Amino acid sequence: SKAISLAVIPGDGIGPEVIAEAVKVLQAATAQEPVEFNLREYRLGAEHWLATGETLPDETLDQLRSHDAILFGAIGAAPGDTRIPSGLIERELLLKLRFSLDHFINLRPAKLLAGVQSPLANPGAIDFLVVREGTEGPYVGNGGALRVGTPHEIATEVSVNTGYGVERVVRDAFRRAQQRRRKLTLVHKHNVLVHAGHLWRRTVEAVAREYPEVAVDYLHIDAATIFMVTDPSRFDVIVTDNLFGDIITDLAAAVTGGIGLAASGNINMEGTAPSMFEPVHGSAPDIAGQQKADPTAAILSVALLLEHLGLSDAAARVEQAVEKDVAGRGTAVRSTAETGDAIASLLAVR
Ligand code: IPM
Ligand code: MN
Repeated sequence: SKAISLAVIPGDGIGPEVIAEAVKVLQAATAQEPVEFNLREYRLGAEHWLATGETLPDETLDQLRSHDAILFGAIGAAPGDTRIPSGLIERELLLKLRFSLDHFINLRPAKLLAGVQSPLANPGAIDFLVVREGTEGPYVGNGGALRVGTPHEIATEVSVNTGYGVERVVRDAFRRAQQRRRKLTLVHKHNVLVHAGHLWRRTVEAVAREYPEVAVDYLHIDAATIFMVTDPSRFDVIVTDNLFGDIITDLAAAVTGGIGLAASGNINMEGTAPSMFEPVHGSAPDIAGQQKADPTAAILSVALLLEHLGLSDAAARVEQAVEKDVAGRGTAVRSTAETGDAIASLLAVR
């Protein structure tokens, strides 16, 4: 059987609890497959920083590079915790991983599963995929501040969009649209952000010529938020930059039943470094350690991981098990482990 080396970064807060269930489901889903997962756990995150002062040492980053994939829980300290500089762990750990490992595709599916209550009165069928750019945009930290703390302070955050970076994400989005319902929506704000906006628009127009079967649509980000609430069925694949993608995927999670169900993959489609799979939610320190967190988002992230590793059957079985479990959940309160057990046991029956 094939050995797959998997790095596991449980992180902070509810991270370790949801990751324990994700690993349980990963093992149940692949028990009959000709693969063997070798797991190595890495302690990283806010707690680790408090204990050691380390965010992501170069040596650890190099070790992470040697794995086939990474499963990531959640990171971050409690909001009121003043011992940790705000945003440090996010930038120096999570974003550093995405940037260093060239996770240029941040894949975030949004599907309203049967049995899940959407906050929308008439949600209709919601099943779309956001292909968020993962290594550029306003996230690169290109900017600065002058005259800090004076009434004349000037702060800039310059969004970086390269032709290479935009083209590779747009191409990926078209490939995915071609495999789905063949509709691609570019979301941007090119009426105001003309330089980046036009690069995105021209790139979409150019690649569209290679995909005559894919219908192309464009929405400004503000209008896209309206349609996501009033007519989410219109979306199939959305392609957008790092910041718009961040914002719109929280909305996408909300309309499909909440952040407890939203999965993501930070994917290096060129295969030059391991891809990383993580629930969209954060570390939720307020409910940490209480077995209250829903592990479904982490479990669905395992499905994305399996698909990425070419284990499509196992990926489909995880998705089906989740769909079945979710459909029958009702309103009963379950612990994190009970939900993980329920999904894992659906995978054991074959
Ligand atoms: C996400 C998060 C991150 C982001 C933060 C924690 C840096 O909100 O994964 O969506 O903005 O990408
Ligand atoms: Mn976010």
